[in-house]
Amino acid sequence: LVERRRPRELDGVRFLVSAGPTYEDIDPVRFIGNRSSGRMGFAVAAAAAAEGAQVTLVAGPVHLPTPRGVERVDVRSAREMREAVLERAGASDVFVAAAAVGDFRPRDVAPHKLKKASADSGLDLSLVQNPDILAEVAALDPRPFVVGFAAETERVEEYARAKLERKRLDLIAANEVGAGLGFEREDNALLLLWPGGREALDRGDKADLARALVARIARLRKPVGE
Ligand code: CTP
Ligand code: CA
Repeated sequence: LVERRRPRELDGVRFLVSAGPTYEDIDPVRFIGNRSSGRMGFAVAAAAAAEGAQVTLVAGPVHLPTPRGVERVDVRSAREMREAVLERAGASDVFVAAAAVGDFRPRDVAPHKLKKASADSGLDLSLVQNPDILAEVAALDPRPFVVGFAAETERVEEYARAKLERKRLDLIAANEVGAGLGFEREDNALLLLWPGGREALDRGDKADLARALVARIARLRKPVGE
């Protein structure tokens, strides 16, 4: 008896996914991080692999198991993530930037633990901007199909559409964050925007949202009529 498996939508398609926060060191024991759990990016990697894609997941510091069939590269800072992504982006068909990349890092990393100088002195930290990994991948030629995320606390659709256009993305997944939404949660809601289209995905668990996002990517990559 020959069992026929359902044809999978992304057989052999090479996915590169970034996920999780980045940590920007201040000194050997302190860093600047953010509340990203990495769950959305890991769910996207799992959903793409389940459709037959060949998936590489570049993960910031998170405590999550590697999804089945996914190749994982662990990084810590935005600059490490940039290196790992750019090394692989040229050989990818799709890049999904689900990571919450720190926008800023300390200008200098102190080689020793910073000490309190006196009881009432403060500390000024000087920050510089990190490279925008998503924008760099979008500027490659040829480039993969480029998918960004937009975490917004207000005017979600307007700000996300502006990001889609400014970074010249093929698709953006916008979510509203803050006050019990988005980060550090199991469920989420996403608004997908692409040039000339939109799809609102109702609140659901991240695995369901990731499957819907991956299905949308598969449809948009195909020329009309296929
Ligand atoms: N991103 C990235 N590299 C950065 C900053 C962001 O790759 N240095 C990616 C994120 O992975 C996400 C998208 O860009 O897919 C949007 O991130 P977001 O923080 O919403 O947008 P920013 O462009 O950083 O703008 P801002 O934080 O000012 O809203
Ligand atoms: Ca940002």
